[in-house]
Amino acid sequence: MALIRAVRGMKDILPPESERWQWVETTAREVFRLYGYRELRLPLLERTELFARSIGTDTDIVAKEMYTFIDRHGDSVTLRPEATAQVVRAFLENRLEKGAGVKKYFLMGPMFRYERPQKGRYRQFYQINCEALGSDAPELDAEVILMLWEILGRLKLSNLRLLVNSLGCPECQEDFKAKLKLFLFSREGWCPDCLRRREVNPLRVLDCKSQTCRELLKTAPVLKDSLCEACSRHYSRVLTLLEQFGIDFEEQPRLVRGLDYYTRTAFEVTAAALGAQDAVAGGGRYNGLIRELGGPDLPGFGFAIGEDRLLEVLPEAEGRSADQSVFLAALGRSALERCLTLVQELRGAGLAAEMDFDGRSLKAQMSLADRLGARWVAILGDRELAAGEIVVRDMKSGSQESIRIMELKSALKNLAAAEEGN
Ligand code: HAM
Repeated sequence: MALIRAVRGMKDILPPESERWQWVETTAREVFRLYGYRELRLPLLERTELFARSIGTDTDIVAKEMYTFIDRHGDSVTLRPEATAQVVRAFLENRLEKGAGVKKYFLMGPMFRYERPQKGRYRQFYQINCEALGSDAPELDAEVILMLWEILGRLKLSNLRLLVNSLGCPECQEDFKAKLKLFLFSREGWCPDCLRRREVNPLRVLDCKSQTCRELLKTAPVLKDSLCEACSRHYSRVLTLLEQFGIDFEEQPRLVRGLDYYTRTAFEVTAAALGAQDAVAGGGRYNGLIRELGGPDLPGFGFAIGEDRLLEVLPEAEGRSADQSVFLAALGRSALERCLTLVQELRGAGLAAEMDFDGRSLKAQMSLADRLGARWVAILGDRELAAGEIVVRDMKSGSQESIRIMELKSALKNLAAAEEGN
């Protein structure tokens, strides 16, 4: 019978790679803790309307990429293509806006976009999201970017570029859209999508992937020239703070991001090694979103790391756990019985331990231990059992010695601790 395969654009994450994912997530969690962010776990399905209203109906995400279907009750639901909108939804629904201070959340998990799959682009991909709600201070923008930098630094990622721009407030955007529209109508050769976009949502043209449009856009006006005084001040303060904290950035006057909700600061982190899909993370400020979704007029700022892409540029050696597991090789029925208790005792002492129940030969058990990556093998035959002894073999050096069974636990703990200290 033909094997059933995974859905196109969706992949399995297997060990040992899954251990690197765990390491990335643990590292991010630790940094989030230091900065006061707490975890939200939200549903994968939301009402379609949530995304249409927040991300924007002319964006690629909403227009072409959502996994939307009608459920059995006749409601239109969508697998989340991103998390910011649903964080705001949950924030409002659960009345989290109450009380003073910035509300800080992180969220990790899969997102779904029906894009053409290629390297670094999947239909189910994973994001590490961070959202800070309730302050318009430029210090918050800088701090969140600093925190992202801390995460990426702890993960030993290098050769990253931080691209920054300001998209201004709705007034700046009105002024800019008027200038941009003039420019867009003064040139020929736009792709069919952009011919439509220049009428309804000219900012989206700046995000077009078509080569000809990109070429034409090289002389387009830039947002920075349309910023009002307050937005201009906000932007310079963010840049000054980034400089002050020693973060290298590049101003990217044409960066608009692929979602409509951004205001003021917008940024992306790219890694050249990724090729065409080079954004590892992206984010920015969304001051109108909470109100747009029916809440109070509260500002917000956040980012999402694309975990799949991050893992693709993570140095090979990072995040691999040093294996310190023990394999108990039992030879004979009574040795097996003894090992059943021993293996539990080792686990109880915090050591990863396994054994074979199938009565294989010593040779077969040794090769099994090798395949499992055991650091030590403890061999127990009937003769050793009668003498109260067990042989411990170091799988790295190949050396082995006989010790008292009673001392196995403490001996292995000492060996593991000594190795950890190295
Ligand atoms: P985004 O730029 O659409 O922003 O996605 C963030 C990151 O998710 C991208 O930089 C990329 O690394 C990854 N990503 C996006 N699409 C794919 C894909 N098809 N396959 C693999 N990775 C992908 C947002 O989603 C915003 N919600 C970020 C944000 C949070 N802004 C404010 N707060």
